Amino acid sequence: YTGVVTIPVRVHVIYNTAQENISDAQIQSQITVLNRDYSKTNSDVSLLPGVFSGLASDMQIQFTLASVDRKQSSKTSWGTRDAMKSSKKGGVDAVDPTRSLNIWVCNIGGGILGYAQFPGGTAATDGVVIGPQYFGSRALVPSGGYFATPYDKGRTATHEVGHWLNLRHIWGDASCGNDQVADTPTQQTANYGCPAFPHVTCGNGPNGDLFMNYMDYTDDGCMYMFTNGQAARSRALFASDGARRTFVQ
Ligand code: ARG
Ligand code: ZN
Ligand code: CA
Repeated sequence: YTGVVTIPVRVHVIYNTAQENISDAQIQSQITVLNRDYSKTNSDVSLLPGVFSGLASDMQIQFTLASVDRKQSSKTSWGTRDAMKSSKKGGVDAVDPTRSLNIWVCNIGGGILGYAQFPGGTAATDGVVIGPQYFGSRALVPSGGYFATPYDKGRTATHEVGHWLNLRHIWGDASCGNDQVADTPTQQTANYGCPAFPHVTCGNGPNGDLFMNYMDYTDDGCMYMFTNGQAARSRALFASDGARRTFVQ
C-alpha cells in the first residue's frame, strides 16, 4: 500500500480521581503528537546526530480523533490484564476495533506507563492502554493538565502505538537481541534517561545504540525518530495480506 494511512482513534477515559479525567485539550494534544511523530514533522528530529540522519523515516500514518467517552470507576488501578477493555469487568468495550485504534486512558499501576497489543490478536482487546499523566503533551495544553515529567511529551503513546504497529523494542527484549528490523543497530538493553552520543554496546561502534528511537525507553524529550526499516515493517500491515489491512479503505 502506498500513501498515507489515516487511523480513526477511539479514546476511553476511565478515571477514579478528578485529575485522571483529563481534558479534551489534553486528549487532542496526544493526537497532535502522534501526527507529528508519525509524519517526521516533530521539531526535535533536528537533534538526531548526523551519522544517523539517513535512518529517520516518515511512517506515513496519521490519526483522527473519532470519539471520546468517559467513565468514572471505583477502581484505583487496572493492571495489565485487559480488565479496562471490558464493560463486564467495569471497563469500556472496544469500539469498531478492526477499523479504529482504541486507546484506554486509565491508571495501570506498578509504575507502568502504557502497554499495547500486537497485530494478529483478539479484536475485543486490540489497542493500547496509557496512564492519564503520560497522555498528551504539556507544551500543547497551556491551560494545564495532568502530566508527569519526564514523560510529558506524548511519547508513551508514540511508543505503544509502535507496538500496535508491530514494532519490537529496539534491543529485541534480550541482551544484544534482534528487533527484526535491519537498519536499527543491535544494542545490549534498554536505555533510560537521556544518554550521551555515542553509547556503544554489542560491537555497534562507532555510532552505537540508536537510543533516540521511539522504541527505546529514554525520556520523552530524548526520543524522536522511527527508522526506514521500522516504517517498512509497520506499513506491511496495510498490504492486501497484512494483519491491519482492514484499516485501509
Ligand atoms: N511500555 C513502557 C513502560 O510502560 C513505555 C515506555 C515509554 N517511554 C517513554 N519515554 N514515554 O515502561
Ligand atoms: Zn514497549
Ligand atoms: Ca536491528
